[in-house]
Amino acid sequence: MTLTAKIVADRDFIVAPLDRRVFGTFVEHLGRCVYGGIYEPGHATADEHGFRGDVLALTKELGVTVVRYPGGNFLSGYDWEDGVGPKEDRPVRLDLAWASTETNQFGTNEFMVWANKAGVEPMFAVNLGTRGPAEARDFLEYCNHPGGTKFSDLRKSHGFPEPHNIKFWCLGNEMDGPWQTCAKTAKEYGALARETAKVMRWISPDLELAACGSSQRAMPTYAKWEYEVLDECFEQVDFISLHAYFRNDGNDIAEFFGEIDNLKVYIDEIIAVSDAVAAKRRSKKRIMLSFDEWNVWYKAHRPEDLKKPGWPEAPPLLEELYNFEDALVVGGALLTLMNRADRVKAACLAQLVNVIGPIFTETGGPAWRQTIFHPIADCTRNGHGEILKLKVDSTTFTTKAHGEVPHLIACGVFNPETGQVSLFALNRSTEETMELDVDLRGLGEALKVGESQELYDPNLKAINSKAAPDAVSPKPNGTARISGSRFTATLKPQSWNVFTLMA
Ligand code: AHR
Repeated sequence: MTLTAKIVADRDFIVAPLDRRVFGTFVEHLGRCVYGGIYEPGHATADEHGFRGDVLALTKELGVTVVRYPGGNFLSGYDWEDGVGPKEDRPVRLDLAWASTETNQFGTNEFMVWANKAGVEPMFAVNLGTRGPAEARDFLEYCNHPGGTKFSDLRKSHGFPEPHNIKFWCLGNEMDGPWQTCAKTAKEYGALARETAKVMRWISPDLELAACGSSQRAMPTYAKWEYEVLDECFEQVDFISLHAYFRNDGNDIAEFFGEIDNLKVYIDEIIAVSDAVAAKRRSKKRIMLSFDEWNVWYKAHRPEDLKKPGWPEAPPLLEELYNFEDALVVGGALLTLMNRADRVKAACLAQLVNVIGPIFTETGGPAWRQTIFHPIADCTRNGHGEILKLKVDSTTFTTKAHGEVPHLIACGVFNPETGQVSLFALNRSTEETMELDVDLRGLGEALKVGESQELYDPNLKAINSKAAPDAVSPKPNGTARISGSRFTATLKPQSWNVFTLMA
């Protein structure tokens, strides 16, 4: 049987302009993300700073816009002062979050130099685990104050005369999690976030600040946590952060696809909770969502993937090898985030390289694209403009967790500057081909098909590896047709597709 799906896309129906900060990623001092990932002095491709050129090139190709740094669980025990100044003077410390030895050979200034080379915006975070407002104040003075004070002059003495002007800051990380160094109750954390935000805004009024939401939707304090935290710091913050890691422990593709529907519910619920806090205050202010950790992560989640004995330096941790089905779930999740462009204004795929990353390296060897690299790159390349409010009519399948859900997940983006329409489509049927029929209303005359690509593999478990780095990679989809305002294409079963249309 062949499935059919119909979409109506109309120029007059827009969700919101897409904030391209949803195409963010994350670099944490964890495993081989920094050391052996973005930074490996002595590597054949390393530049004068020790940045791996192959990883930098793949980061640019991935097209990510924002990078969160320095953690993660690492953040909650981190003293920022350890990572600045002459490298030979930097202390070697125990990192309790990942049972590793941190050499501090990479820190704030190295990250900013790397971010500038990569062409990405920084999203920084202050430690609200072992530290508080005083250290956040000092760190912000170091990063953003022009000069003439203790910490701004310290930055200058470290070779950075100009302030970094970092605008986006996370107030701690996963402070509800019992695994977090110095976890807090919602009331404690909300008050701490409020006071830290006040101090930080007094230094730089134009900051964008994100309070920690729950570590995941399954937390026992979920939703109550967001309400109580925002009730404490609503006036001082702009964002609430969300984290989600999708799992396929039962090796059941229907349930795994259902993780995308879980994400949709999660977003709706956090919007509702944030708006309830606004309603209590009769406030028109709307808290935006920063989905600052999301990805598939469940295979490299065994105890030995989280910690290695003996306090090693940059051990291989969380080295998830992504297969084809993971790429489909990641693609569907990203479309779900994009489709809520009205409230999701930032998101970070966790993480960038080696640690649950779309890029994988061999220390001293090559770097390659994992399967999940491809849907991300498709979206960053073609996701410019306004998100169209699509009317999607699709057949459905049943999941235990979410009941009936559509086979088709789609997203449409219209770029008013170039006139380009981009359509992204995930066929979640593992058995059936899907005939896609799109009515494009008011979106341009005499449109022609530009890009038409699919990511497909008959084997859901196919992976890319050093020996076969392009085993799972995009191929042309030769079925795309346009006639007047009607676009049609055939989507293979279990396939990710991207089409662009231009006059
Ligand atoms: O991204 C890996 C870890 O997952 C982060 O350090 C933490 O914030 C989350 O639990």
